[in-house]
Amino acid sequence: MPTLSPSSLLSQSPYQTYVYSYPHKTAYRPLQARSLSEIWSTEKRDALFLYIHIPFCEMRCGFCNLFTTVNHNDEFVNQYVKTVQRQAHRIKAALGKVQFARFALGGGTPTQLPIAALEAVLDVAEETMGAKLAEIPISVEVSPETATIEKLQLLRDRHVDRISIGVQSFIDQEVLATQRRQTSTQVQAALMRIRNLGFPTLNLDLIYGLPGQTIETWLHSIRTALQFQPEEIYLYPLYVRPLTGLGLSDREWDDSRLACYRVGRALLQAEGYTQVSMRMFRANHTPATSSPVYCCQADGMVGLGCGARSYTRSLHYSNEYAVNAKEVRHILEHYVTREDADFDTASYGFALNREEQQRRFLLLSLLSNEGLSVAHYRDRFHSNLLADFPKLQQLLDWHLASLQADLLLLTEAGIERSDAIGPWLFSYQVHSLMTQYTLK
Ligand SMILES: C[S@@+](CC[C@H](N)C(=O)[O-])C[C@H]1O[C@@H](n2cnc3c(N)ncnc32)[C@H](O)[C@@H]1O
Ligand code: SF4
Repeated sequence: MPTLSPSSLLSQSPYQTYVYSYPHKTAYRPLQARSLSEIWSTEKRDALFLYIHIPFCEMRCGFCNLFTTVNHNDEFVNQYVKTVQRQAHRIKAALGKVQFARFALGGGTPTQLPIAALEAVLDVAEETMGAKLAEIPISVEVSPETATIEKLQLLRDRHVDRISIGVQSFIDQEVLATQRRQTSTQVQAALMRIRNLGFPTLNLDLIYGLPGQTIETWLHSIRTALQFQPEEIYLYPLYVRPLTGLGLSDREWDDSRLACYRVGRALLQAEGYTQVSMRMFRANHTPATSSPVYCCQADGMVGLGCGARSYTRSLHYSNEYAVNAKEVRHILEHYVTREDADFDTASYGFALNREEQQRRFLLLSLLSNEGLSVAHYRDRFHSNLLADFPKLQQLLDWHLASLQADLLLLTEAGIERSDAIGPWLFSYQVHSLMTQYTLK
């Protein structure tokens, strides 16, 4: 876990933890049960994000700590989808009148579902939840082997406009070393299928810091990815986490990850990609979406399925979390046997007081190229950013951030330290909860 002393930011490894949301799910704890209709009644509900989690995979990759299982058969999968339907009916009733501005189907691997089950899940989003699939941006995660032509065609017919595929590397030995069964030939065939079907946005994930990877093989993977002209590319530094099956020595690992990051970033920028965050790069030719503007710091998220999180402004909730295969299976078995009425309440999560809401806003803005607008912060919280978070002055003093007019932006040196700056800005409470969490 990250340390919080101010000077540690410059001396510690730049690879502390990936902050894609705040607070992290390991800061969630059992709560006194609260009804969802009460929780949502005071929220703006006209531009929500709908997320459905499919916790099934064909393989358990050595680096992955997501909530997913390889231990499933058709009967269990059908039972899971039926439970998502039951949960959706209860949640929709609790939410009342809502409008969704975005929909994402993630996992695990949603395309691991048999085609009829995949269709049933899309029906849950459209018919039960009322998401207007033809009008809003929809993103689906796929893996190369499960992205069959039939499933991709179904997704295209249902107006999915973004496909996100985990490639990790185009070098077979590097992928195999992570216990992921996949060949570069299979991946390239899947990418051809995705491109031929005309999805407007292809996102491709690559990982650096893999065992056996060199600068040359890393650049080879990026160049191969570029042949498919992806609208988005994510470059992930490898993290090896407890309970995932990859035991690497970390000797010189930081230096090699940093070197890969720098050459990868330079190559993508030279190829016309804009850096959106430490990991995300977007091609300058990416289509602009005509959907309602969605602001991740402000808007709510409604999560369905076991492992999905939901966010209101003052409460983040989900069900319990695990990585260990037995625990995941146990949580899933509990999920599919829950009574309908159990879905009407939230009993596990994190309540965000005003300070935590401010931190969330700060972290999510600062860690993207959107930057942190001092005026926007003042309008939202009626408070002064630098007075609330004097630590930010240190980022300026250390040239990790700069103030451009009203915008606090990370500098190049700051962006590459995003995974250290993020946790350095966590509250003491979140930091302690995360430290005390026992990973199952
Ligand atoms: C939601 S995950 C998995 C998507 C999909 N199931 C797949 O494997 O193709 C999205 C991405 O996070 C990255 N990722 C997950 N765990 C990681 C880790 N420990 N270190 C680095 N990157 C990781 C991988 O690039 C992965 O494709
Ligand atoms: S990386 Fe993707 S395919 Fe591999 S275990 Fe994680 S969710 Fe499943």
